[in-house]
Amino acid sequence: MEQPIFFSHYRDLIDRALSQFIEDLSGKDTELHKAMHYSVVLGGKRVRPLLTITTAKALNCSRESALHAACAIELIHAYSLIHDDLPAMDDDALRRGQPTCHIAFNEATAILAGDALQALAFELVSSNSCPQDNATKLKLIQTLAKASGAEGMVLGQAIDLDSVGKALSLKQLEVMHHHKTGKLISAAVELGALCAEASEKELAALADFSRALGLAFQVQDDILDVTGNTETIGKTSGADEALNKPTYVSLLGLEGAREKLEGLHKDCLSSLNRLNDRDIDELREIADYVIRRIH
Ligand code: IPE
Ligand code: IPE
Ligand code: MG
Ligand code: MG
Ligand code: MG
Repeated sequence: MEQPIFFSHYRDLIDRALSQFIEDLSGKDTELHKAMHYSVVLGGKRVRPLLTITTAKALNCSRESALHAACAIELIHAYSLIHDDLPAMDDDALRRGQPTCHIAFNEATAILAGDALQALAFELVSSNSCPQDNATKLKLIQTLAKASGAEGMVLGQAIDLDSVGKALSLKQLEVMHHHKTGKLISAAVELGALCAEASEKELAALADFSRALGLAFQVQDDILDVTGNTETIGKTSGADEALNKPTYVSLLGLEGAREKLEGLHKDCLSSLNRLNDRDIDELREIADYVIRRIH
């Protein structure tokens, strides 16, 4: 499934802002800067920033006012991918159809580019140019920090590395996926909701939506690792099996993983329906896309 049409307009906005934020940094002739630009600007589906902007818009907040938060979550994601591909982690050679950062540059530069992208994310949401008031900025920072760190994505990555060659239970696999991928997806939605000053009820419905969506995203990633070819997915297919990683496909088989995905899709839609007086069409389209995407 190709990306829905409305994505392309939002994508332009996001891509331009990301380029500008990287461009505005000093030290443009350094390898560090080039590696940051390479890993952020050249490709990626931008699902997380699209979620931030679409959530904000569904709650009547302009796309522009959610742009700093949207770019911040994409920067954290880009850093997580650089580190995920490192020899000490998944040792991958291909990302977004091009050599991974540590191959295009070198390992030390890739580690530092990831570090710097993480710091830049926090700089964006705390900067004077970020349009939210200080109390909201603080919430944005807390949400990003919690989702990224030792209770979020990084914990998930640690569980992932510790699980190589192990037979996890379904529950353990779900915990791993919720952390390594789900937490940043949930944060993407929450950031948009915070920019829009969502009510407690709306935050709760969106939290349930994004929890199902985040898990679905990684289930589909596991499926594509088996069914996709390297050219289409832009990363080495079959990498999970080669590394002996427990995945939804290794645990449930392809059909079982697909059934799980359909169930999560339904969960996404029923949570969205709780936002009764809001325009949820674009969020629904993102959920459809996450389930049916081919790369
Ligand atoms: C890949 O994420 C890593 C996972 C968390 C599954 P994406 O599939 O969103 O990667 P890009 O940003 O589009 O390259
Ligand atoms: C990556 O999971 C999750 C994060 C980067 C946090 P994977 O290792 O499955 O992602 P890909 O398949 O390399 O993109
Ligand atoms: Mg990994
Ligand atoms: Mg990987
Ligand atoms: Mg994967």
